[in-house]
Amino acid sequence: MINPVVVQNMRGKLKGKHFLKLADFTRDELMDLIQYAIELKNMQKKGEAHHLLKGKTLAMIFEKSSTRTRVSFETGMYQLGGQALFLNKNDLQIGNGETIADTAKVLSRYVDGIMIRTFEHKIVEELAENASIPIINGLTDDFHPCQVLADLMTIYEKKGTFNGLKLAFVGDGNNMAQSLLMGCAIMGIDCTIASPDNSQVKPEIYSQVKEKAAISGAKVEQTNDPKKAVENADMIYTDVWASMGWNGDFEIRKKSFMPYQVNDTLVKGAKEDYLFLHCLPAHREEEVTSSIIDGEHSVVFDQAENRLHVQKAVLASLL
Ligand code: CP
Ligand code: NVA
Repeated sequence: MINPVVVQNMRGKLKGKHFLKLADFTRDELMDLIQYAIELKNMQKKGEAHHLLKGKTLAMIFEKSSTRTRVSFETGMYQLGGQALFLNKNDLQIGNGETIADTAKVLSRYVDGIMIRTFEHKIVEELAENASIPIINGLTDDFHPCQVLADLMTIYEKKGTFNGLKLAFVGDGNNMAQSLLMGCAIMGIDCTIASPDNSQVKPEIYSQVKEKAAISGAKVEQTNDPKKAVENADMIYTDVWASMGWNGDFEIRKKSFMPYQVNDTLVKGAKEDYLFLHCLPAHREEEVTSSIIDGEHSVVFDQAENRLHVQKAVLASLL
């Protein structure tokens, strides 16, 4: 059953806001977005039209490659009755030195929202400061909020609650780890991150996570013992060992990360009904073995699908 009240109430509810990082939202706001996404998913599955953004245009700036983000945003805008423009950095004047501020001001005259995937997080902030339309973060070096919202939706669909759950993130303390810790801390999910000493999350972000956890009551811990992290976990999450933009000697890096591989031995410590999550793209036999990612606990393709639904919820409530 579709809940028309949720669909009606959420439309334009976050008008005037940007979607740059999860820390800018309350638990209630994120929960509302998840409920909205569930309704939009139902509508799409039933073939019910939901042209909530008829005539609207989303510009999508990509400075890094993408499969999921590009296709889910583009399809999402189409399903909402609008359109999306794919703008590769090299095809834009940003590539020739036009400033972010000028780009924000110009695009604000043409389109109704901008999604951007870029490097430093301060680029999306600068875009937001200079734009008169909503900016959506499609991944920066620090955060990937759209992915984590989809992950939270997936967890909620599978477990029916956020209460009493423990998530273990095992691997690089990267953009995914930082966003995920933040998402868990806000929603009240206990969270332990296990990463090698040289790949911890940024201390300033970790302390913001701790502040959010103090509000929700979530227990957040950092360790370099992957076994300890997965002990009694309801969810195990990992991501690639080298993110886009990283350049170094991967063979050396691989050695320090090998003990953090999610494999059949490591998952033994988790709860029997644990879920395995990964934002994708994955590198099988590096951060995760095929036996796990292609195994019965894996929900990676549900996560990928839910990108479409949560982003439609974000778009329809922001634009
Ligand atoms: N998870 C994710 O953002 O995937 P893409 O890099 O393919 O967009
Ligand atoms: N940490 C990865 C996530 C990709 C979706 C990266 O930034 O490359």
